[in-house]
Order: sequence, then structure tokens, then C-alpha cells
Amino acid sequence: MKFKKNILCIGAGYVGGPTMAMIAYKCPQYRVTVVDINPSRIAEWNSDNLPIYEPGLDDIVRTTRGKNLFFSTDIEGGIRNNDIIFVSVNTPTKTFGTGAGMAADLQYWEKTARQILQHSQSSKIVVEKSTLPVKTALAMEKILNYTKNSITFDILSNPEFLAEGSAIKDLDNPDRILIGCRETESGYAARETLVEIYANWVPRENIITSNIWSSELSKIVSNAFLAQRISSINAVSALCEKTDADITEVSRAVGMDSRIGSNYLSASIGFGGSCFKKDILNLVYLCQYYGLHEVADYWENVVRINHYQQERFIVNMLNAMFNTLAGKKICLFGFAFKANTSDTRESPAINITKRLLEEKAEIVITDPKALKNAKADLEGVEGKVSFIEDPYKAAEGCHAIAVLTEWDLYRDLDFQKIFNTMTKPASIFDGRNIIDHKRCFDIGFNIFPIGKPALTHF
Ligand code: NAD
Ligand code: UGA
Repeated sequence: MKFKKNILCIGAGYVGGPTMAMIAYKCPQYRVTVVDINPSRIAEWNSDNLPIYEPGLDDIVRTTRGKNLFFSTDIEGGIRNNDIIFVSVNTPTKTFGTGAGMAADLQYWEKTARQILQHSQSSKIVVEKSTLPVKTALAMEKILNYTKNSITFDILSNPEFLAEGSAIKDLDNPDRILIGCRETESGYAARETLVEIYANWVPRENIITSNIWSSELSKIVSNAFLAQRISSINAVSALCEKTDADITEVSRAVGMDSRIGSNYLSASIGFGGSCFKKDILNLVYLCQYYGLHEVADYWENVVRINHYQQERFIVNMLNAMFNTLAGKKICLFGFAFKANTSDTRESPAINITKRLLEEKAEIVITDPKALKNAKADLEGVEGKVSFIEDPYKAAEGCHAIAVLTEWDLYRDLDFQKIFNTMTKPASIFDGRNIIDHKRCFDIGFNIFPIGKPALTHF
């Protein structure tokens, strides 16, 4: 079959995989290939056990794989045979040299640019899908258009706004698609090519365009704004605990103001995930680079409050359990950084586990999807840790449960059954405020929520 367009995506991760699967699903007339340097990841994409858990993903991959969606390790061939190349490689925080711990590490991105240059035999549109510091496209242009021959490259910025756990829903019905381009004739033409792809299922009014720098910056700023709301509500949760106010009531009252809105106002043990912290630190670094130190400080505090919230959670546990956790068994309900994903990158659970182990507690971890990643995250960490998928078995003999991920299944557990098998006094530290506190208190638990008065039998 002759396809209308041939699309390549370099990077088969949490973004590349689902995003391309959705394009293939919505556009059967296009051939979509996803390549990666990691052969085992590609093998998993080609198997029945996809490398990531995402509700709805299996179905659309099953429908399209082998028809117009292909996963491969042949990066060179992919570059040669496709005219539109999305780049969705990882852009983690730099761990070395200048900007270590803050700036984005662009080595994977730059390597990809050089590969594109080396293997291209015709002109291409290169689409930045990864989240990148503003002005990255300029560096990209310098690399790609270095050799002055008839092959040209148009660079577009098309940041991804999906959230894990709801990726398929977000891709199917995005709030907006943002496409930034160079304000030149060929830039506008390239942009139109990309608009046409999304217009297969996204209403035109939701496809917005801008100059390329605004697009790059908007992505990082969107994440910073979302994270800022979480840090704001978490900061207020600390005040609630001192004043007998209830964070759920405050959040509801504040969020009902239509100017503020109710999303991203759930107090928690802090935000996790591979992007919020990395992108804010990148923003901080950029501000410092441009000499905007007050602006940098403002955003850095969002990350500081996030760390403070996790630390507060540990200290509250320690205080409530008579200032010693040594030898006590604590069951962690959830290890994923949020519900409906197996992803544990930057999950608050990692830091919380390590801190509890430092206090010599014994940790039992349960999670419906993330135990494989949890084991990898904790490899080599000293202390007693076990992994049990069944939450009832996991809680057996424990002194306390700490709810770290808002999986729905934890809301509906038989807490009487759990209480019966635990060591008394039994406590629940609800880091997500998802369980029925009054009911669990009546069963006999001592309850320590976030941002609400504790319910104790002492
Ligand atoms: P990921 O680590 O899951 O995937 C990146 C993939 O790129 C890996 O499989 C890696 O092997 C591959 N890769 C690296 N260098 C390569 C090269 N030279 N050639 C071929 N493959 C290469 O990362 P991710 O979570 O998909 O994130 C990718 C980008 O998207 C990041 O910039 C991130 O900030 C951004 N983003 C992520 C999310 C999310 O929910 N995870 C959402 C929006 C944006
Ligand atoms: C976030 C953004 O929501 C996406 O738009 C963006 O594309 C993505 O980052 C990215 O660039 O990687 P994600 O990190 O997958 O998506 O998940 P979120 O739902 O935003 O949750 C992030 C963290 O904040 C989780 O740990 C979650 O539990 C926490 N959170 C969220 C709260 O603590 N309270 C809230 O009210 C909402």
C-alpha cells in the first residue's frame, strides 16, 4: 500500500510510543515508524507486554501495529526513508559540569540531530517533541544546516502536553496542539504540514501556532504553573495542620472561584514524575543564565516546597509513632508517582522509602503496576524491603500504612480486614487523602491525613 505520508519518531519512550500510536490510529493513510537505540525497548513494543502501562494504549497499538505503525532499531534507515521526523528523546537534568543539577542535558538530543544530518538524503521537517530549553531550535538549525547543500531542514516546536495515566485520553482529545515555527516561508509551509496531520482528529481551533521560541518556552512554563499550584496547596496544607482548618475544604472553596479553577489543587506528598522538577530547574537555570535572579528564586521555591512537603510527611510519621521507627514495619500503598501508570521516575515514594529505611523501619511495598520499577529504583539500597502485590498480604503484621499513590483500588479496600491483621496501635498516614478517614478511625486506626486534623485514639 502506498502511504500518503511517512513519519518517523526517534525515541520510543513514554511520549514517543503513545503519541505515534495515536497518530497511526487516527491517520491510517500515514505510515508511522518509531525507532530507539534501546533494542529491548523496541522488542517490548513489538511484544504483547508493552514497555509502559497506560490505560487504552494496548488497544490502539494492537489495532495499528504491523499495519501502519512499526517499531524498529533501524535509525539510519528510518531517517533516510521519512520526511517528517519527530524527536522525542529524553532530556534529563544535567548531572555533571556547568549547570549540573539544573540545566537540561541535551546530549541525546544533539546526538540525534547529528544522526539526522549524517543519514539524510533529502530535505526534512524535524519536529521537537521533547521538552527543551528555549532557543534549542537555534542550536539545532546550526547543526543541521551547517553544510550548505541542497538538503534543507525546517525545525518545528511541537511540545507534548499529555499526562501519564491519561495519555491516551489526552492525545485523543487534547486541550491544544501547539506548533511553533520560524517566521519564514519554508517555516510556515512546514508548520502547515504538521497542522494537517493533527487536523485529522483535532478541531482546527484547538491547533494553535506561534513563533518557535514562544512554543519552546510555553511547554516549560505550563509545567511550572501546574507544579506551582501543587506547591501552593501543599504549603497551605502545612498551615491547615497547625490551625485545624481542612485542606479539602479550603481547596474546594478556593477552586470554586472560576478565575482560579479546581484542578491541581489536591494536597499530597508532593509532585513526582520525570518532568515537573526537571523542567522547573531548567527554567530556573535559564533565568539565572539571563541574569534574572529574582525570577529564578521565585520558581526555585516551587521545588523547595515540594521537598519540604515530603520531609514533613516523614517527620509527621516519626512524631506520631513515638519518635522511633526502628524495627517497625511500614506498608507503602503505592509506589508509582501517580495513579494509572507504572512509572516511578522521581516518585516521592523513592525518597520516602529511603528516609524510612534510614530510620531503620522495615518496608513492605505494594502497587498494582509499579513493583518492577520499584525494585529497580531500590536496588542496592540498604535495609529491609519487600514487595507484595496483594495489599491485604502486604499490610499483614505492619504497624502503619502510608498511602503514597492515589490508586482507586485503595479507596475500596476492606479496611476492617486489614486492621485485624496489623500490629496495634495501627496507623494510616494518608499522603493522598483518598481513604475514608472517619470509617477507618471508627474501625480502630489512628489516622494522619495531609492538611487535616489527625484522628487518634490516644
Ligand atoms: P523516555 O526516557 O521514556 O524515552 C526517551 C527514549 O529516547 C528512550 O527510550 C531512549 O532510549 C531514546 N533515545 C535516547 N537517545 C536516542 C537516540 N540518539 N536515538 C534513538 N533513541 C534515543 O522519555 P519520555 O518520558 O518519553 O520523555 C521524552 C521527552 O518528552 C522529554 O523531553 C520529556 O521532558 C518530554 N515529555 C515527557 C512527558 C511524559 O509524560 N513522560 C510528557 C510530555 C513531554
Ligand atoms: C505533567 C503535566 O500534567 C503534563 O501536561 C506534561 O505533559 C507532563 O507533566 C510532562 O511534561 O511530562 P505528569 O507528570 O505525567 O504530567 O502527571 P500529572 O498528572 O501532572 O502529575 C504530576 C505529579 O503531581 C504527580 O505526582 C501527581 O500525583 C501530583 N499531583 C497532581 C498532585 O500532587 N496534586 C494534584 O492536584 C495534581
